Amino acid sequence: MSYRAKLTLSFLLVILLTISVTLVIQRVIIEPTWTQFLTSFSLERRGPELASIVSQNIQRARRWVELRPLLEQLSTLYRVKVFLTDANGDLQVQSRYPEDIQPIQAEIDKALQGETSSTQITLSGGKNFDVVTSPVFVNNRLVGTIQIVQERTNLGRVFGFPLTSSLLIGGGIAAILSLFLVYLVSRQVTLPIRKMKQMAMKFSQGDFSARVDLKSKDELGELARVLNEMAGKLEETERIRRELLANISHELRTPLTTVQGYIEALIDGVLPEEKREESLKLVLEEVRKTERLVNSILELSRLEAGAIKMDIRAFDLKGLVLKIKDKLSLSFERKNLKLEVSAPGEEALAFGDPDRIGEVVEILLDNSLRYTEPGGHVKISLVREGDQVLFKVEDTGIGISPEELPRIFNRFYRSTNIPKGERLGAGLGLAIAKEIIEAHGSQIMAESVPGKGSSFSFYLKAGNR
Ligand SMILES: Nc1ncnc2c1ncn2[C@@H]1O[C@H](COP(=O)(O)OP(=O)(O)O)[C@@H](O)[C@H]1O
Ligand SMILES: [Mg+2]
Repeated sequence: MSYRAKLTLSFLLVILLTISVTLVIQRVIIEPTWTQFLTSFSLERRGPELASIVSQNIQRARRWVELRPLLEQLSTLYRVKVFLTDANGDLQVQSRYPEDIQPIQAEIDKALQGETSSTQITLSGGKNFDVVTSPVFVNNRLVGTIQIVQERTNLGRVFGFPLTSSLLIGGGIAAILSLFLVYLVSRQVTLPIRKMKQMAMKFSQGDFSARVDLKSKDELGELARVLNEMAGKLEETERIRRELLANISHELRTPLTTVQGYIEALIDGVLPEEKREESLKLVLEEVRKTERLVNSILELSRLEAGAIKMDIRAFDLKGLVLKIKDKLSLSFERKNLKLEVSAPGEEALAFGDPDRIGEVVEILLDNSLRYTEPGGHVKISLVREGDQVLFKVEDTGIGISPEELPRIFNRFYRSTNIPKGERLGAGLGLAIAKEIIEAHGSQIMAESVPGKGSSFSFYLKAGNR
């Protein structure tokens, strides 16, 4: 069943239920109460009552006419016509209103037999009347009869009908209105849902460019926003995947072509004897480079997938930095670069995975080494700031332009503007460093002034002795 049909059905059900419950309440509670109320005031009970009032007054009256004011009173009080006859059944007095009603002799005759009787009459105008006739006794002697005539108004129906009908009419209007409402509301709901369904179907076909245009502030708007966000992420992921594949194949093709060339030359014997060893060394160099590249790609993709767990513990960051400095000092000396470390006198404990942090330090130092011209200066500093340790590498290198700065952490991003004699990198170093530092719950920061130098830094939680 469609959402719209369900909604319509439930609306109608609620309306029907409300009407039924109200009707039942009217029938079961309200109408019986009315009926009871009405019967207590009914003519049948009132007839003998009035007869006894009249009989009490007859004793005191000398003539029938003297009873007239009483009859008038009763007549206006109870909205009835009252006739009074003597013991022979002859009419003696009657109330004035309503004028067109005549006494019913047959009933009077019955009353003369000593019994109270009631009947109904219908006049030619279509009006119904209740007639009650009672004998009037004085000291157990029948002195006459009293006949009371009252127009019949079915109070139960008089009150009940408008209530029932207004309920039904109201219910009908509510039903029509609800159908209209359901149409509007369901349109608001089903339209965006249909749009989102179409979008999801496009996703399943690999088209991530689809977006839902829905700005409403309700749950559906929220869902659309999340879907759009998801689409954006998927699109980005898809783009990165394609780029990555293109980059990787490009990066691998270059060394493979080189290696292929050398090997072909060796097989063909075109190389002179003395150049063979040198060529083999170059081939080995290319193969090693390729292996490093493949390892970097693997590491980065595993870091991005969260497949590498950090073994975080307190370690001596200063000790680690000094060890790496020793390892790289020869490369720095060869390029005539000054490398210095400024650190607190005691050891600098930090929380992290020492192997991974060491990797980051090496990546940053390798960059400073490569992107700084001979005669330059590279400085590592360790500073304790509150409960954190700040690691910073500053160089007097070629710097990074403001346009490039936001992109240097992207994988495979590398600048072609590098010092003479330096080989082009793969552009994976900073991407790996960024992943590692973020896995430590921190961030890597880069600042640079083109032509003056760059600085890279990150914070780690400090450990306490
Ligand atoms: N210390 C630095 N000085 C100047 N440029 C830098 C420095 N570190 C990184 N860069 C720039 O950022 C780019 C990306 O660095 P990285 O990810 O390590 O890749 P790679 O070093 O393989 O090129 C480099 O190509 C370079 O342009
Ligand atoms: Mg690098």
